[in-house]
Parts: sequence; C-alpha cells; structure tokens
Amino acid sequence: MNAPLTRLFARLLAEMNEVENTEWDATESRIDPRVYYDPEILAREKNLIFRRMPLCLGHADQLREPGSVIARDLLGLPLLITRDRAGEVHVLLNACRHRGARMIHAQNERCQQSGLSCPYHAWTYDLNGTLRGVPKPHTFPGLDKASHGLRRLPSAVRHGLIWAVLDPTAERIDVAAHLGDLDDDLQTLGLGSHFFFRQRAQTRTTNWKLMMDAFQETYHIKRLHAPTIAPFFTDVNPAGEPVGRHARILVGRDRLAEARNLPPEAWDLRKHATLTHVIFPNSLLIYHPDSTSHMAMFPTAPGEMSFVHTLFTPEDAKTEKQIAHWDRNFAMIDGGVFSAEDLFISEEIQSTVASGANDSLLFGRQEHLLRRFHANVAALLNGAD
Ligand code: FES
Ligand SMILES: [Fe+2]
Repeated sequence: MNAPLTRLFARLLAEMNEVENTEWDATESRIDPRVYYDPEILAREKNLIFRRMPLCLGHADQLREPGSVIARDLLGLPLLITRDRAGEVHVLLNACRHRGARMIHAQNERCQQSGLSCPYHAWTYDLNGTLRGVPKPHTFPGLDKASHGLRRLPSAVRHGLIWAVLDPTAERIDVAAHLGDLDDDLQTLGLGSHFFFRQRAQTRTTNWKLMMDAFQETYHIKRLHAPTIAPFFTDVNPAGEPVGRHARILVGRDRLAEARNLPPEAWDLRKHATLTHVIFPNSLLIYHPDSTSHMAMFPTAPGEMSFVHTLFTPEDAKTEKQIAHWDRNFAMIDGGVFSAEDLFISEEIQSTVASGANDSLLFGRQEHLLRRFHANVAALLNGAD
C-alpha cells in the first residue's frame, strides 16, 4: 500500500469512532436535473470532455494473443481494438479508407485475424492499420498508400489497461499526466499482472453521470443492495477524497474491525475494505476481495449509454473450479449488483428527471463527492482547461 492509501485506511479506521465525517460538506446542495437529459449539455460533454481526455477501454489481457481484434462503437466512433503481430495494442477506426465500409460488421465481436480485409473490394490492412494491399492498383494511379491506413487514435497501455483519446484529430496521449496522483495508486494495485476474465457491454437507458453518481456515495448500500452485497459491508462512513478530478473511496467491509488490532503492514485493501477509484470522466475501478471490476460509461444519447464492465482476476482462470468460482462472482456483480440494482435505479431516475417532478435534486452532506464531480463537469463545460 502506498502512503496515500495507508492514510486513507487509517482514516477509515478512525471513522469507526465517528458519527460525522470531516470531509462532509457543511450543508446539502442541489443540482438541476437538466444535466441528465439536455441534449445540448451532452453535446458539450462529448466535445469538451470525452473527446479530449484519455478514456480507459478495458484490460489489455483481453487481447492476449497477437492477432486479437475487438470491434466496438463508442461515442459515435466505430472502433477496432487490436493487438498486432509484434504484440502492440492499437485503437483504429473501423472504416475502410476506400469508401468507408466497416472492416468488421458486428459490434462487440472479438476475433482472431492475421490482418484486416474489407468485405467490399478487399483492400487489406495490417493490424496496426497500415494499408497493405489494393486489388487492381492501376485503377488508383494517384493513391498514396502510406496516408491511407486505417485512422489510428492515440492509445497506450498503462497499468495493464488500454487507454485512448477518442478523437480522430487528436495527436497524443499522456495517461500518467491524466491520472496525476492516481497513477501511483494504480501502480501499487498491480493490475498489469492481472488476467482478463469476462466482459459484458450493454446499452442502458440512463445518463452516464447517474452511474458515476451511484459509485461516489455509499449511502445507498444498505438499502438498494440489500438483496446482494449489503451484508458484506459495515455502515461506517467511507473514507473518500478527491484526487484532482478523480477520487479514491474506501468502504469498510464486515471484517474491518479486525484491522484495528493489526499494524498498517497487515491492513488489507481488499479483505478489510473495498477500494474504488473514480477515474474522471467515465471510469470506475472496484477492487473486490479476489477480482477487480472496471466499468466505463460511454454516452450515446442524453438518456442512453454503452456500459462496458470487465472483470479481471489475479490468476489466469484455467481449472473448472476457478472458472466456476469467478463465473459466480461475475453473475453476482454484473447481473445482480450492477445491472439489477445500480443500473436499474439509474434508469428509474432517468425516467423521472425530465418530468418536472423535481425542479432540483438534492445531495446530502455525505454526498460531497457527487457535488465535486458535477462541479468538475460544469467547469469543463464552461471552458476550464
Ligand atoms: S470500401 Fe473497402 S475496399 Fe472498397
Ligand atoms: Fe451501488
């Protein structure tokens, strides 16, 4: 555990004696429900936030073998995420440079390819996007092959995760600068040595920010999550703090009290507590006892998003027993907690926000990280750098 996480853990233990958390806001605050349904706000969020920042697309181990390709549309961009034969990961646009056909038709399809061949006229490309072959080349006497590779977006693998700037005109990516002080946390958690287990991508009828809200407070755990995970957690105030525009939040598990009698070296971020990293704008990392969830929210419309959840594990699940164990975990976390509870309630909220039922929504004192998150979004929409 690095120093900031140790400090956070100590704060969580101190919370066991506290009724009030020192981080809480002095008073409650209100937010205009328009932020969840206004198409103009979403258009600005896309241009000023989503297309400018590195976004996490999942774990690089999902593309373990050279030749792996995933087709996925995000933020209106048809993407191919590939691992080329040299082992390098690329994020390409899934649109042929001849007349724009998709190289791979299906969304969310994962396949093995030695290269990419367009189904229309069979232009072929390497997995890094380079244009390799054009049938009947004499019909394109002026074609500069070097500048007609598939468009490549700036991307990088850092901490085992794939990051990209989803803007075809962007030139560079700096994930470490984007993460700021969270970079060292992610290094400490060592996700780079973890293994891809399962992923599910689904379209859900909720604004992306409602799901970001749901993971920045723990006020709802004992109620909304009563059928699933509530018994695993204490009702002790969480220890949460902003880290630039991001946040780290530590929630006490049922075994938290054991850590009180242990030296800091024996405090366990996964057994005694559950850590969440909120990575601005649209990613969440949740460190379960023996697996890790990455969730990413990609808006498609004001009240709709692509929700991509990936589970990775500290060991490569090979035996039947391991696979059955993490399959049960995935079913509970993805199908139960996230889909049937957090996404369900976010969709329920989405169905009321434009009705006029509330002309403002309320954040309590302990929902302070939500207020900060919305302030960060608003500042960027108002031109903050
Ligand atoms: S559109 Fe792809 S080869 Fe013609
Ligand atoms: Fe939740």
